[in-house]
Amino acid sequence: MSDRMISVTMRINGEKTGPVDLPEDLMLLEYLHEYLNLTGTRYGCGQGVCRACAVIHDGAAGAEPIPACITGVAWANGRSFRTVEGHATRDDDGNVTQLTSVQQAFLDHFSFQCSYCTSGFVAAATALVERLEAAPIAPEDVEDVVLDALNENICRCTGYVRYLEATRDVILNTPGLTRAAVTEENPS
Ligand code: FES
Ligand code: FES
Repeated sequence: MSDRMISVTMRINGEKTGPVDLPEDLMLLEYLHEYLNLTGTRYGCGQGVCRACAVIHDGAAGAEPIPACITGVAWANGRSFRTVEGHATRDDDGNVTQLTSVQQAFLDHFSFQCSYCTSGFVAAATALVERLEAAPIAPEDVEDVVLDALNENICRCTGYVRYLEATRDVILNTPGLTRAAVTEENPS
């Protein structure tokens, strides 16, 4: 760990954090775990491969899942992120009162077993759903788009199918995420 410190400010789950002096080579995942006690984001490979550590970066291009294990706080400085703790609706005491549609679908479909990968899948699927709110797709494209969006997330328990099915169901059952297919009868 570097001795050099930098002053860092971010928004995490809608709340301002910092300014705080951090080692310049600290990773975002370490900041979440060791400084903010947000431990729902998992450490897996530590190399940007498994996506267990995925969080949502809310940037100019919209919601994007990024691997927090290889994202330095120097880059994260001044940016906004959502971790798995920030998705559900909570009451004033911090208790979860309502899951998001993605979280609920993962439960309903029994998408996970040990759940080590789940926070990363929540980030990836949620970012996809939010991108589709801005740019709906044809129903026949949903399968491929979901596969592409979750493709980098590794799960060692379940075989992926139930994560894929749950995400597909959220998209097909949420108004505005898909549009009518372009056909000769419906050319628009
Ligand atoms: S722990 Fe970050 S990608 Fe595997
Ligand atoms: S549910 Fe265990 S790694 Fe995915």
